[in-house]
Amino acid sequence: MLLKRTRTCGELRAAHAGERVILNGWVDTRRDLGGLIFIDLRDRYGITQVVFSPQDNARAHAAADALRGEYVIGVEGVVTNRSAANVNAKMATGEVEVRVHELQIYNAADTTPFEIVDDTKTNEDLRLKYRYLDLRRPSMQRNLILRSKATILVREYFDRHGFVEVETPVLMRSTPEGARDYLVPSRVNPGTFYALPQSPQTYKQILMVAGMDRYFQIVKCFRDEDLRADRQPEFTQIDVEMSFVDEIAVQEMTEGLISELLRETIGVEVALPLPRMTYQEGMTRYGSDKPDLRFDLAFTDFSDLVKDTEFRVFRQTVADGGAVVGFVVPGQGHLGRGMMDRLTEKAKNEAGANGLIYIKNMPGEVFSSVAKFVPEDVTAAMVRASGAAEGDLILILAGRKPDVYAQLGTLRLSVAQEFNLIDTTRNALLWVTDFPLLDFDPEEKRWVAMHHPFTSPKPEDLHLMDSDPGKVRARAYDLVMNGSEIGGGSIRIHDPAMQRKMFALLGIGEAEAQEKFGFLLDAFRFGAPPHGGLALGLDRIIMLLTGSRSLRDVIAFPKNQRAVSLMDNCPDVVDPRQLDELHIQLKPGL
Ligand code: AMO
Repeated sequence: MLLKRTRTCGELRAAHAGERVILNGWVDTRRDLGGLIFIDLRDRYGITQVVFSPQDNARAHAAADALRGEYVIGVEGVVTNRSAANVNAKMATGEVEVRVHELQIYNAADTTPFEIVDDTKTNEDLRLKYRYLDLRRPSMQRNLILRSKATILVREYFDRHGFVEVETPVLMRSTPEGARDYLVPSRVNPGTFYALPQSPQTYKQILMVAGMDRYFQIVKCFRDEDLRADRQPEFTQIDVEMSFVDEIAVQEMTEGLISELLRETIGVEVALPLPRMTYQEGMTRYGSDKPDLRFDLAFTDFSDLVKDTEFRVFRQTVADGGAVVGFVVPGQGHLGRGMMDRLTEKAKNEAGANGLIYIKNMPGEVFSSVAKFVPEDVTAAMVRASGAAEGDLILILAGRKPDVYAQLGTLRLSVAQEFNLIDTTRNALLWVTDFPLLDFDPEEKRWVAMHHPFTSPKPEDLHLMDSDPGKVRARAYDLVMNGSEIGGGSIRIHDPAMQRKMFALLGIGEAEAQEKFGFLLDAFRFGAPPHGGLALGLDRIIMLLTGSRSLRDVIAFPKNQRAVSLMDNCPDVVDPRQLDELHIQLKPGL
């Protein structure tokens, strides 16, 4: 029989003393102390101590003997104040306990493969296999609850601003977002395939042509790409599109949402408008298109100062069009040989640099690792240019552009971690703007869209489209938080002629463009408004808001690094009959 609960395990306080209550939940811990049995009873809301004593009820006390961890029970009893000595200040319900008169055991539980505690050292694969046990841990529940609050807030925010949530198909034609598609074979149309959306990009643009004006959707996207801690094959976007807007309008709408999210979920105020930095500045000052600005370590370009020295690495690098760049590590000029060797290894192995050059700006003496080849006055000028104070260390790389910036950017992050320079109490948000429109793919020897092929070039760069396409900047922007790309978007092309030109630059011929994107080009012939938007990575945002280290900690049922769901064991083989119906034959040996 169900003892219908009157209270949760998180709400009883001293003021409830004397109340008769029914609690339901899981046995968190059980202690048998000289005839008294203490159970910490746990549900989503908290933990309450319940006590079985032969004096209160002999039958319940005898039955409680059978209880073990994770049994599911209902208890009826009276809330009682604990004696001063027994109050547990660490528990929200620590002033009281419930003295039990009746016990119902709803279900027994086998011994769990790992303890249900927040501070878990359990191997992640085991946690994923028994995900329902893993999700009983309070920290995981907090993450899912915060995620739920956030999505509700997102819907309210967009509703308040006149946006319409429109669901777009999950079975669609492939969109080019840069990853591989997940394909779904069609039984009804043999030999043809749907793709799962990498994003609803084309649909949301078509919704603008359809006159919806302001669209949003909290939507699953699917990308078959190499997985990392911040990438899942199946993830969620907050997808947005607006008509008759410029970059600023999209960014302001997004900033408003982000600031509300931070305020309402973690109580953090962010100053608006958010800072903006061009892609060029991000790369040359921080070596990244998603710079972590919780710490500075900005780069100084020494190329001009060193281009005429005898030192071949400096001279030749600059002569070949490369750069000599570095950053100051405050207060680390004292580092000894061992540590400098370690940093050099990092520069080589993690960042892919050829070597590391350094200057230690010590009191009364400036020590340079290349003192033999670089005159003292040049070294002194480098120290001045970098702004290094006494006691500081300057780390320097020489190399080809833009690789050298990315290498120094990797070293910058690594050094910040090594010397604990990241202020984790800060939240550093910024827009990175003016991305290049195109990226050259050296393997395929052709231009690819840096964002996606629907992104508009900047009007002032249009004249370079034919002569120097690599220099054309896009009306594209990314939102960055603590070094993580949490969103990206652009003002789109709305003119069919420009869209065709873009396809042509990407090596997509008329016929292929018509075949793949004919529907979009057709739509543009019937009055497409100027439009733009962006998509935020919901999982990444929740990961940052909860301080989690992996996306897997904010997704209820994630895939592991091999794109496998260990709980229900998928992907898996299917019945040959199913393949047959789909007209699919596996390669021999599979
Ligand atoms: P983009 O490809 O930049 O843009 O994706 C938008 C945001 O989604 C998040 N994201 C991911 N999160 C988890 N796992 C992944 N595999 C993953 N891939 C991307 C990132 C990213 O910033 N259609 C465009 C948006 C637009 O132009 O409006 C798009 O999808 O946080």
